[in-house]
Amino acid sequence: MPIKKPIVVVGSINMDLVAMAERIPAIGETVIGTDFQIHPGGKGANQAVAVARLGYPVHMIGKLGSDAFAAQLRSHLESAGVNLAGIGECAGPSGVAVILVSSKGENSIVVAPGANAKVSPKDIIDNLNLIREAGMVLTQLEIPLDTVEYLSSVCARENVPLVLDPAPASKLSQKVLEQVEWFTPNESEAAFYGSENGTHSGSATPVDVAEILLSMGCKGVVLKMGSKGSYLASQKGLRESIPAFEVKAVDTTAAGDAFNGAFAVGLMLGKSSRESAVFAAGVASVSVTRAGAQPSMPTMAEAVAFMNSYSANRS
Ligand code: RIB
Repeated sequence: MPIKKPIVVVGSINMDLVAMAERIPAIGETVIGTDFQIHPGGKGANQAVAVARLGYPVHMIGKLGSDAFAAQLRSHLESAGVNLAGIGECAGPSGVAVILVSSKGENSIVVAPGANAKVSPKDIIDNLNLIREAGMVLTQLEIPLDTVEYLSSVCARENVPLVLDPAPASKLSQKVLEQVEWFTPNESEAAFYGSENGTHSGSATPVDVAEILLSMGCKGVVLKMGSKGSYLASQKGLRESIPAFEVKAVDTTAAGDAFNGAFAVGLMLGKSSRESAVFAAGVASVSVTRAGAQPSMPTMAEAVAFMNSYSANRS
């Protein structure tokens, strides 16, 4: 049995305060909600939990505060099976996300970064051994940009593939884009990077946006389009549309994180990028049928059972 090189996630850890309502209110409007829940979240921690629940070894590098949420967030990560040696602590609040979820499962999110804002290049240096031994590194943009820039240069130097989820979208240097193995925006993030390059028009298709991102230097692009599926493109000539699984969404929060964690696991298990994207779509589909970010991540057995029964029902 070959040794599995761990996946390392460098990113945010949040407590999600989630209010459900029939619809997301407009600016200045108040609506009466239907429920309120508190779940562990954060794009980094969600991706780490997605990997762990699929049974793949994963380490997380990030930061917690000194508040009551810190211990709860730590314990959720630990019980999911995430290795926490790379998680530091600092005085002040942990990251918090205030999330509104509509009855259709759509969401809108405000993140108060708290301790996530203190994840620094020094944390990368202090955990260099984890990165050197990783099979793949995953990151997002809920930690400071200079840390992401430093991380991408370290991954390039150490020859460790980096998957960058540009969420929330923020301007990135050409150098970072060139150092990323897979760049994984959703539709609104893809539109941001397309227009940053000055070439995006309102009528641009996913194919156009992927070409723009490749011309900006990305080696590989996975456009995540929710119920419309995903689109893969690479400098090596790959161009592939992957359909979505049709499910009834309860809560789409962290579907993109489920996708990224599973895509990385697929690649690490030796699947092709196409097979990994199909697997990731299956995992993300299971996640949207459940409430919450980390609690929605399926195990490998659950993901495989879903995909098998889905194809059996279609044939
Ligand atoms: O991607 C979903 C996540 O975004 C939530 O868990 C929330 O914490 C925000 O970071």
